[in-house]
Amino acid sequence: MHASPVPGTEGYADNAGQLITRYTGVIAADKYKVVSHLLPRRAGAVLDIGAGTGADSAWLASLGHKVVAVEPVAAFREAGMRAHASPDIEWVDDSLPALSVMTARETRFDLVVLAAVWMHLAAEERSAAMENIGQLLKPGALLVMSLRHGPAPENRRIFDVSASETIALAARHHLKVVLSAQAPSVQQQNRHAGVSWSWLVFQR
Ligand SMILES: C[S@@+](CC[C@H](N)C(=O)[O-])C[C@H]1O[C@@H](n2cnc3c(N)ncnc32)[C@H](O)[C@@H]1O
Repeated sequence: MHASPVPGTEGYADNAGQLITRYTGVIAADKYKVVSHLLPRRAGAVLDIGAGTGADSAWLASLGHKVVAVEPVAAFREAGMRAHASPDIEWVDDSLPALSVMTARETRFDLVVLAAVWMHLAAEERSAAMENIGQLLKPGALLVMSLRHGPAPENRRIFDVSASETIALAARHHLKVVLSAQAPSVQQQNRHAGVSWSWLVFQR
């Protein structure tokens, strides 16, 4: 149990019931379309940070990967474990920027995904987080992230984060950009609200 809410998770636990239903309607394969040609074909170790209810983790596990799903909100972890029970998905209560549970382990990953998470962190948290994520990647491994642009839900902690500043931050941590693309939201409700996404892929 966290003594105070993990920075970035504000508003999620309060709306967990509604959000769990909403996340269930998103098809991960559609969401990852702009980056899927770059994802590792060979089964490997994947870390899904801010995994929510685990739809992406489940999709990645269905492709043959062993997935660690990191999620600080208990209601999401529990819903994810129920909806996507799998020996190929391990759920971990950990959070950015420190990722103290994951960094204490010896495990390194072939792929780290951060879908719709990065813009929940303040600038100094993003800087610390990039350092810690870089250390969890094997040499040659990929980091995939999506950044939300457009109107934010009222009770959520969301910063305006550009693709270019994220590319510059990653470069300072020796992660080179492989892809930078824009995509509309796959959720109709978000598309109508004017939400769009930057997708970034980095290689260590
Ligand atoms: C918009 S949801 C995205 C969930 C999932 N990645 C997806 O694409 O469906 C953002 C997720 O980031 C998580 N989150 C927020 N702040 C975080 C932090 N500091 N560390 C790790 N996860 C965080 C939230 O709990 C939530 O599950």
